[in-house]
Amino acid sequence: MNEALMRPAVVSRISDLIGYTPLLELCRTGNGSRLLLKLEMYNPTGSAKIRMARQMVLDAEARGELRPGGRIVESTSGNTGLGLAVIAAERGYAFTAVVDHHACADKLRGMTALGTELVHVVDDGTEELATAAREELAEEMARGQDNTVFTEQHNNPANAVGYHPVAHELHQALDGRVDILLGAVGTGGALCGTTRELRRLVPGVRTVGVEPKGSIAFGGPAHPYHQSGTGTPEGATIGALVDFGLIDEGVKVGDVEAFATARAVARTGLLIGGSAGGVVYEALTRLPSLPPGTTMVALVNDGGEKYLDTVFDDAWMRARDLIDPAVEREIDETLAKLREN
Ligand SMILES: Cc1ncc(COP(=O)(O)O)c(C=O)c1O
Repeated sequence: MNEALMRPAVVSRISDLIGYTPLLELCRTGNGSRLLLKLEMYNPTGSAKIRMARQMVLDAEARGELRPGGRIVESTSGNTGLGLAVIAAERGYAFTAVVDHHACADKLRGMTALGTELVHVVDDGTEELATAAREELAEEMARGQDNTVFTEQHNNPANAVGYHPVAHELHQALDGRVDILLGAVGTGGALCGTTRELRRLVPGVRTVGVEPKGSIAFGGPAHPYHQSGTGTPEGATIGALVDFGLIDEGVKVGDVEAFATARAVARTGLLIGGSAGGVVYEALTRLPSLPPGTTMVALVNDGGEKYLDTVFDDAWMRARDLIDPAVEREIDETLAKLREN
């Protein structure tokens, strides 16, 4: 085993606990194809995003834009904010997160506990994402301020670079045997960053990007959606890190299917988030028709604990007409059948 990819037994910084996340085989087919989940909720803050948060801060320091006593500003729906909150606290920076009413309350409470200043964009009373308004405000707050950096996750190459270690972790853990990689696409950092590095190590790997129905990166009609932290809502610009040259296929999964999958996976004992539900739904759909012995890896960006008041709350789901018993039954049956092998 490559020593470089083993975490020391004792570490002295929270950020030293980033990475080395486990792989779980969720299910397999009779012909030896399998679906592995890369469980990114095992990072500090319970999500993948702390990988890129650290990288963006290190990059700003290296460029001399962030110096001791500086301030970080970011527009975030939660997971990036939690990651930046930890890194800012660890490295002695102030952090201002521009958030909207769509963010999950626990993520906001977590940021506050870590010392973050929260600035809310104006609530227009709807459930639509306010990504564009958030970004404008974050940029405005940092403009012209000395030793203040708007990390601009949608356009920051360090976001994607932060995921290069995921490729090395997969390559090492699977001995290079990874055929298909699926992941949610929001800023594009996680999937495209991982893919860019993985292609150097495993040139033939196929990549499937998943976004919510209603999101605009892979075309189709735009409409509001409830999958949190992922996709590109109408009115927002597709991020510079969404590299279509690195994504072999871009697909869309609806909220009903994504959330039904997260709920079905929960009944196997594992809580995954709503965007991961969409990724796993797509993976389960493909698994039965793959060539024998295919290894498919799905990136699980965060855990379901963050969505107990939404995806896992029947009343919240019903109020938004997000439960379709026929879809739930079908996913439960597919999963149960594939888990028998
Ligand atoms: C829960 C969740 N899913 C998916 C994504 C999308 O990842 P990326 O922005 O790297 O494309 C994010 C990013 O914030 C997220 O928090």
